[in-house]
Amino acid sequence: MRNTKLILATCIIILTAISYSCKNDSDMKDSDSEEQYYGEKHRPQYHFTPEANWMNDPNGMVYYEGEYHLFYQYYPDSTVWGPMHWGHAVSEDMVHWEHLPIALYPDDIGCIFSGSAVVDWNNTSGLGKDGKPPMIAIFTYHNFDKENAKTNDHQSQGIAFSNDRGRTWEKFEGNPVIPNSEKIKDFRDPKVMWHESTKKWVMVLAAYDKVKFYASSNLIDWEFLSDYGIDGDDRLWECPDLIPMKVQGSDETKWVLIVSIQKGAPNGGTATSYFVGEFDGNEFKCDTKNQKWLDWGTDNYAFVTWSDVPKDDGRVLGIGWMSNWQYAQVVPTEKWRSAMTLPRELKLIDSKQGLRVTSHPVKELKSIRKSTRVFTSPDTIQFAMSDFEVDGGLYEIELDFKKPEHGRVSMQFENGLQNIVVYYDAETDEYGVDKSKSGNTTFHENFAFLHTAPRDYESDNIKMHIFLDHSSLELFADDGRTVMTEIFFSDKPLYISMLNHSSFNKLGPEFSLVINDYKTHVLESVWD
Ligand code: FRU
Repeated sequence: MRNTKLILATCIIILTAISYSCKNDSDMKDSDSEEQYYGEKHRPQYHFTPEANWMNDPNGMVYYEGEYHLFYQYYPDSTVWGPMHWGHAVSEDMVHWEHLPIALYPDDIGCIFSGSAVVDWNNTSGLGKDGKPPMIAIFTYHNFDKENAKTNDHQSQGIAFSNDRGRTWEKFEGNPVIPNSEKIKDFRDPKVMWHESTKKWVMVLAAYDKVKFYASSNLIDWEFLSDYGIDGDDRLWECPDLIPMKVQGSDETKWVLIVSIQKGAPNGGTATSYFVGEFDGNEFKCDTKNQKWLDWGTDNYAFVTWSDVPKDDGRVLGIGWMSNWQYAQVVPTEKWRSAMTLPRELKLIDSKQGLRVTSHPVKELKSIRKSTRVFTSPDTIQFAMSDFEVDGGLYEIELDFKKPEHGRVSMQFENGLQNIVVYYDAETDEYGVDKSKSGNTTFHENFAFLHTAPRDYESDNIKMHIFLDHSSLELFADDGRTVMTEIFFSDKPLYISMLNHSSFNKLGPEFSLVINDYKTHVLESVWD
């Protein structure tokens, strides 16, 4: 066993003989070059961002004929939120994207808020053409005049269809398909799925502090089914999703209800949560009262899943908006605002702690690994980074170590002036990300705190899977049981600088860290 494990004689591992002091500015790739496509300061290199202007929630995610479609809340005239359109991009792998023209524009009924899309395989809507199934988008209309007049019915649901693989869209002439007759002020973000056992379309819709379920046989005429909410919780719910998920390793299927919450997230502001329970085609019943957090970081909102992922693939795939409404509109990017999270696979596992949804970076991301360093002995760990490519600041790190009895194991990324630290703390059994010295943090008072997340697992080993892009860090700990997504704005890209176990400093070498596995990958840009 000893041979297969890496036992570190010292716990302060200066991985980077790349110590920044040896480098000068010309060594570092300056991402501030306007000529290079997607070369602007802070521009993510393997996350989705719009070419220019404002983006928020992912919308209309659907897979059809070899393409993952990603529509998104988009305001083409400014870098702050405004009358919403649906921007559009397609990808064969959820990693490399092709930008397409805006899919949906505001019209007389209103501008286009969040929603979903499905392939109407059996042409139940009758909106298909030439024997091919139409793609149907189901979205919220938001009418500013009505909002200003305080009529409370300014949000309603509409549909649009496409018969050319999502390239052009026509709004349904009978819109809205769900008017807001009850005058519910917040009445939005329809997510539609085909419910196999009742052979109906089912919609889940956010209605202030709860969700409403509707059913339809044709995506046009909708019948109200039921409400689901938590007594005493009056937070604003948005962007729901309802997904049947197989419990890993069993034949049991449970229903997962994803809900984004507008305030009171564990580390402040907005975040995505979920409930696990049953849905019988009419009502959702939660197994436990408590909602769980899909992500403990501050920057994963409005996470929803792709429709129509082929059965032989079988994965539950989704993406979130990598920001937080607290500061999204003032983050220091100039040409565009906001990115999406990494595309993720969700799994439902049964653990000692109960049923949990785990998140995993999709396997397609392996295609952007440019070079990999596998640490095989203490010697190479000491100096490994000195001849490892450090250009670009784009990393994926897989670190697996024996849970220490004391202290904090931290991984630091820095550029000489600024840093971000991600750690596991054995004293509190928590993960943390400290971005207080990560660069520009002054644009909003709630931006740069130390964020922590409780570990939700009992095991003797700690696993940290980390992705670093120019302005984001994503931690998938313990095989996706605890996830933290965090954005930051350093002046220059950050590099891996150090893995450190604090107990060694204080208590001596017997507190050395046992590393089971340690790999670092340099990633490449998907936008070249
Ligand atoms: C969530 C949200 C949605 C709404 C959209 C408007 O971020 O507030 O509820 O449809 O953004 O852009």
